[in-house]
Amino acid sequence: MKKPTPKDGILDVEAYVPGKAKAEGVLNPVKMSANENPLGCSPQASIALASTAYRLAEYPDPRASALRAAVAEKYRLEPDRLIFGCGSDEVFHLLTETFLVPGDNTITGEYGFLQFAIRTQAAQGEIRYAREPNYRVDVDEILALVDERTRIVFIANPGNPSGTVLEGREIERLADSLPGDVLLVIDGAYREFVDDASFQDGLDLARGRENIVVTRTFSKLHGLAALRVGWGYGPRDVIDAMDRIRLPFNVNIPAQEAALAALADEEFQQRSLQLVWRWRPWLTQQIGGLGLEVTPSAANFVLIHFPATPGRTAAEAEAFLAKKGLLVRHVASYGLPNALRITIGLEEHNRGVVEGLREFLGR
Ligand SMILES: Cc1ncc(COP(=O)(O)O)c(C=O)c1O
Repeated sequence: MKKPTPKDGILDVEAYVPGKAKAEGVLNPVKMSANENPLGCSPQASIALASTAYRLAEYPDPRASALRAAVAEKYRLEPDRLIFGCGSDEVFHLLTETFLVPGDNTITGEYGFLQFAIRTQAAQGEIRYAREPNYRVDVDEILALVDERTRIVFIANPGNPSGTVLEGREIERLADSLPGDVLLVIDGAYREFVDDASFQDGLDLARGRENIVVTRTFSKLHGLAALRVGWGYGPRDVIDAMDRIRLPFNVNIPAQEAALAALADEEFQQRSLQLVWRWRPWLTQQIGGLGLEVTPSAANFVLIHFPATPGRTAAEAEAFLAKKGLLVRHVASYGLPNALRITIGLEEHNRGVVEGLREFLGR
């Protein structure tokens, strides 16, 4: 008998599993598993959102005009080269839907963000993983995988879950070395957390090139993950093509208004950054002091490596911390079965993680 059948490849996709939000037997666990902002969001954003409560009968502005103008002004970008999405996830989705036909491929790092693979497979493309020696994206490893069916190279900078950074010179070399018909997507979801003034986020490079798209999100620094707002900046023709298939009202009114207010709230942004900049080195040093390897991070999380010895594994450490109400992310699905990713939290939670790990290792 005939039955509806998903198109080829769909059932090979491993559905995205978000960071845990619940721990058995713990009433209000602390979530350090999804790289959310532990300070919440800008109070101005909450007020802006509340002001939209009686506008639910309206369709949103399909171009997100006010938000578009504000982002363009803040980052000195041409408004018509921006596209807004239901999170930056949707911008990746629009990229793969616009540029891939079945059998094409995309390339990302060995430990690349999982959505790059899922979006590629949804478009019936092949995802290729370039080796990341020392958890760092390596341009030559990427270039070695490029062939005539390559359409997109995805790089998160800083990376997730690695937290490591690809230098500006290397990004430029990659952009220069890729064939002209391959898009380089630079995902800057964690860009703001980099505290190195020489860091290049790709926006300057993208201004003058035909093959670079830079993406950003309101989910991390601005703490608006619930509202799903991200954007991409790229060549006019690329953005124009993506815009043709974008769902017309993909960013809703509360999201547009809250994002606009968040962008203007420098005080909240600074507070969020100071928190990460204060506790990132502390966590790295303290956890390193327990004898665990911590990959140096430029983002709002740290990646911690555990031995494979039974009793001391990453999976067991995750379970141990969960019993104490601290939820962290075991990153086996990223090809790192011996590692945990921990979002930098409030002081008491960071201290709790270190104490918890000390206890775990000392058992
Ligand atoms: C590297 C990276 N890119 C993009 C995103 C997606 O962000 P958004 O909430 O804008 O879809 C995340 C979220 O975890 C991420 O880690």
